[in-house]
Amino acid sequence: MDTRGRITKDGIRIYEEADFAGMRAAGRQVAEILDLVAPLVQPGVTTAQIDDFIREEIRRRGLISATIGYKGYQHASCISINHVVCHGIPGPKALQDGDITNVDVTVIADGWYGDSSRMYVAGKLPRKAERLIEVTHESLMRGIAEVKPGATFGDIGRAIQTYVEAQRMSVVRDFCGHGLGLVFHAPPNVLHYHTRNADRLILEEGMFFTIEPMVNLGRPETKTLADDWTAVTRDKSLSAQYEHSIGVTATGCEIFTLSPAGRFFRTWEQTAE
Ligand code: MF3
Ligand code: CO
Ligand code: CO
Repeated sequence: MDTRGRITKDGIRIYEEADFAGMRAAGRQVAEILDLVAPLVQPGVTTAQIDDFIREEIRRRGLISATIGYKGYQHASCISINHVVCHGIPGPKALQDGDITNVDVTVIADGWYGDSSRMYVAGKLPRKAERLIEVTHESLMRGIAEVKPGATFGDIGRAIQTYVEAQRMSVVRDFCGHGLGLVFHAPPNVLHYHTRNADRLILEEGMFFTIEPMVNLGRPETKTLADDWTAVTRDKSLSAQYEHSIGVTATGCEIFTLSPAGRFFRTWEQTAE
């Protein structure tokens, strides 16, 4: 049971300073695993092979996969290729040259949840896809830059939406970030676009949540396939996503899921970001 700290009037848990250590450890584990995924993403590799690697790496580290068994989901990752927005199910489909893919992993370490995703590329990165990936990463970082006590969830959504739309791309509305900590999905819903409701949700030190914008080259609408998980863009345009788990500090925020190797953004390059 999640009984740490206290709950705000909006139902958001405020964790204690000592709890940051748990989130830091969980976030580092998922970041290390996502670092190891980079060399695997090549043309000809199946998403099931990537998921098998992640599952084994989670086991080897003595961690628990948060997604296996979650609402009937059976995999250690979500792998979302090209026009798949999120919740792509790993399977026998091989990656092709020029495919872009998001890999999303959530682990439980000592009860604490670390949730993060990044973009990867199989083979040669097409120019339009590169721009989409750059804008998506930048939108996440602009959202994170708003985070400090006294700012609002509306500020986060506005920063992401304003930037993305100025690049003539669109922000997905159908999925959002979320509170986490000793649970996977908790209040609030962290919207990646601006609403007046979110302007009333004030950030406080000790809040733990994800920011995970999904950005489309075309229109924002999505639909979920018959498997009940895979979400795709309705217009079949390319979609990208980056996700960090963060905690609000006295002066700003701590990112729990940064890559120790400095490879969060350009996973397909050897150089540090
Ligand atoms: N990791 C996803 C998130 O960012 C949730 C995946 S749930 C699953 O919230 F069941 F699809 F794995
Ligand atoms: Co998440
Ligand atoms: Co995730």
